[in-house]
This record gives sequence, C-alpha cells and structure tokens, in this order.
Amino acid sequence: MALTRLDKAVSHLTGLTRKQAFKLIREGRVSVEDLVLTDAACKIDENAEIVIDEDSIGTAAEAEALRYFMVNKPLDTLCADHDRNSAVVMDLFREELNSESLHCAGRLDKDTTGLIIVTDDGAFIHDITSPRKELPKTYVAVVDGVLSDSMVERFASGLKHPEEKKPYRPALLKILNEHEAEVTVTEGRFHEVKRLFECCGLNVTSLKRIAIGGLTLDDTLDEGEFRQLDENELEQIFEGAD
Ligand code: URA
Repeated sequence: MALTRLDKAVSHLTGLTRKQAFKLIREGRVSVEDLVLTDAACKIDENAEIVIDEDSIGTAAEAEALRYFMVNKPLDTLCADHDRNSAVVMDLFREELNSESLHCAGRLDKDTTGLIIVTDDGAFIHDITSPRKELPKTYVAVVDGVLSDSMVERFASGLKHPEEKKPYRPALLKILNEHEAEVTVTEGRFHEVKRLFECCGLNVTSLKRIAIGGLTLDDTLDEGEFRQLDENELEQIFEGAD
C-alpha cells in the first residue's frame, strides 16, 4: 500500500502551494474517507478520496501521476517556461494544475511548428532529448529552391555544415514535391534541419515536426492545441529505439 503526505497530495491536486495546503488542512477543511484530518504531515493511502469543503478533488495516486501532453506548437512561440518578449509554449498550460512543474521535452525553433511533448517527468525529458538515444524525429520542410534526388544521398552520407565542427549523422530525406520534403534526424542539434538544407544551398521557409519516434502528431490538433497522451502513445515513442 503506497502512502503519500496529505499536504503534498492536496497541493498537487489543487495547484495550491504547500503552505496554502497546510493552512487549509489546519482549518479542518480537508477530509479523507469521511475523516477530517488536520495534520498536514499525515500519510494517506494512494487510493483514498480527498475532499475539500465537501468537493472531491481526487486521490493521492492521481496527484502522483506524471503527465504527458502532445502539443501542436504554434508559430512564433518559444519552447521555454517564460520569456519577456515572446509567447512561450508554457503559456498554453497556465490553467493546468501545477503548471510550473511542466516543461517542454526538447526544443523547436521559434518559427518551427508541430509536435512537442510537455511533461513533468524529468527522466522522460532526458530520454527524448539525449542524442545518445538516437530517437528519430521527423519534419516536413518547405524550401526556397528545387529539391533533387542527389540530395537524398547527400543527406544519407552525413553532411558537414561550415558552422559545425563535426558532420551530422546520416539523415533520411524523402522528397514529397519540388519544394517539400520529409526529413528524419536522430541528433537534434541546433537548427539541424535548416542547416542540412543549407549544406545543399537551400533555405527552409517553413518547418513542422510531425513525429517523435513512433508517435505522430494528431492532425485533429490545431496549432496551439494540446491533449494528454495515453499509455499506448507513450510506448509508441520509444518503439524500436534502444
Ligand atoms: N531543426 C531545425 O532546424 N529547427 C527545429 O526547430 C528543429 C530541427
């Protein structure tokens, strides 16, 4: 039987600080399984229903659960918690419980749209972003010139950009039409996709991430919308990875 501190569970479920949760409990407004508990430090069963002022707020297990959201990142938005001058992805989550513990798993450029995962699971963020995991990430890029078949081989051979010390790992280029291609990379280096095309004399004019590992962006999500990932989708991300 897993046990959780009452003030911690109340704070996680309500978004209140620990201090505010402590006060609420001391005021006798919190009950667990029909028993008013005034000791904030007492341990409660993870499946016990917590009630504040006669409204159920959930169980400690729900408070402990880690959250994973799929977001369709809008244009002109930074993958950051806060920024003085720009909109940030985390602005979309201000209404969520404990939004301050949620963070982007990795980064997309300000002018890149598409799939980003937001979570409060630090180990997961590491797994998604670590270049050592070689997790493939797929983008659709529109370029300002004409794509040619020879570029497929160049991408696959491991291109070297003048501003980078070492060449990129081989990338997969799938040409969709004259100006549009799907690109899959496994490193996630700074401006990687844009720089791969620059190596071939082309500039990217629009970039959207459509997949991370085996998880593809839900095309019913408009830019700026998000939803929680289910267990299957979480597994799909790392399917086929080491
Ligand atoms: N590659 C880029 O150039 N930009 C991104 O946002 C992601 C990958």
